[in-house]
Amino acid sequence: MKIMEVEGGNQLTGTIRISGAKNATVALIPAAILSDEESTICNIPEITDTKALCDILNLLNVEVKRASESIIINPQKMKNVEIKEEFSKKLRASYYFMGALLGKYKKAVMYFPGGCSIGARPIDLHLKGFEALGAKVTYDNNKYIVEAEELKGANIYLDIASVGATINIMLAAVKAKGKTIIDNAAKEPEIVNIATFLNNMGAKITGAGTSTIKIEGVEYLHKCFHEVIPDRIEAGTYIIMGALCGNSLKIDNVIPEHIDALLSKLEEIGADLEVGSDYVIVSKQNSYKSTTIKTAVYPGFATDMQQAFTVLLTQCSGKSKVVETIFENRFMHVAYLNELGANITIKNQTATIIGKTPLKATNVVATDLRAGAAMVAAALIATGKTTITNVEHILRGYEQIVEKLTSVGAKIAIKEI
Ligand code: EPZ
Repeated sequence: MKIMEVEGGNQLTGTIRISGAKNATVALIPAAILSDEESTICNIPEITDTKALCDILNLLNVEVKRASESIIINPQKMKNVEIKEEFSKKLRASYYFMGALLGKYKKAVMYFPGGCSIGARPIDLHLKGFEALGAKVTYDNNKYIVEAEELKGANIYLDIASVGATINIMLAAVKAKGKTIIDNAAKEPEIVNIATFLNNMGAKITGAGTSTIKIEGVEYLHKCFHEVIPDRIEAGTYIIMGALCGNSLKIDNVIPEHIDALLSKLEEIGADLEVGSDYVIVSKQNSYKSTTIKTAVYPGFATDMQQAFTVLLTQCSGKSKVVETIFENRFMHVAYLNELGANITIKNQTATIIGKTPLKATNVVATDLRAGAAMVAAALIATGKTTITNVEHILRGYEQIVEKLTSVGAKIAIKEI
């Protein structure tokens, strides 16, 4: 078992470079199998979710080569076999193989995906989308068989602007006959990144990044080169850490428009920010004002960002609120923040934070990926040494977190016990 130890109270100064976006990478890798030739994707983060997807590619007899930050995926000898449960449940994004295999072979066999336990996370909208394209879905004992004689373009309205359903339907529709229109599509930057990748291969997708995506089916997808966008959630996490204990901490390789909602909330509480074309410099301020945040689909305040932001709210004077509207179980970090000394209560889907409270080190748990990032942020300002268990969750989404934070002055280490 791995644990993380963080000695709090150190200033962070220097530069942290942001890696490729996890939530784009985890869709780009499955999307690559739709090509009939080799794809090269650069700026791939070295995180355990990437490794889990490469294991699925190996299972499907897809050739995978890693070279520095790039990945070369060649599906020419691929075989469409069942994705066994131990592979499907390793991560949420295994579900993108459903759309990609269906799009390529008109058949996908796999199990319910894994991922962070932050709510029920059904996949009904993905399946309804596949059915609208002409697929038949059979479910038995956690196993899904999705197959079609032919996939035909359709008009699909999503009841919720789901990131996963939007991408999965795009993957299934790129090679379908005719035109597919996804209405109330999610607009996250990762979706634009996936659509650009598919278009680079020869797909005909327009409207990605708006709530209506149009896909004209094509027969052949060719070789291409693509780059993963910078990770906006990783960037936001380190910017928040900078507001907590930074001294001119530079977060580099950022697309500031992707984190507009976070930057404006930081400005509202009184953070000291310099926002450049591809970087943000942040320093800790002695006092911050309280505020309310409400998570929302992009371009609203990201649900993946509220946990680390809650840590910052413990350092704001007065009463702050966090309203979580996307997932029903995304406050698991709160109990541990309270153990560190915060004063937070939860009622329904709202956390009320009374600040400012000093934090004192103790033993805490990374209950999921972003809750884990919040624990690291809190530990950086807590007096004493905080021990974080279930660190595996954090390593699923933050490339070289220990190395990055150590390079700017944090005292942090991972130990195997
Ligand atoms: C993606 O999850 C991200 N995961 C999540 O990142 C992120 O929190 C989330 O989008 C919202 O931005 C990946 O990209 C792999 P949704 P996803 O479908 O696609 C409901 C992280 O920490 N819903 O947009 O699973 C669902 O329950 C994470 O990096 C249905 O009801 O999110 C939720 O309430 C975790 N039926 C809402 O929609 C469906 O078929 C939004 O979920 C699909 C979703």
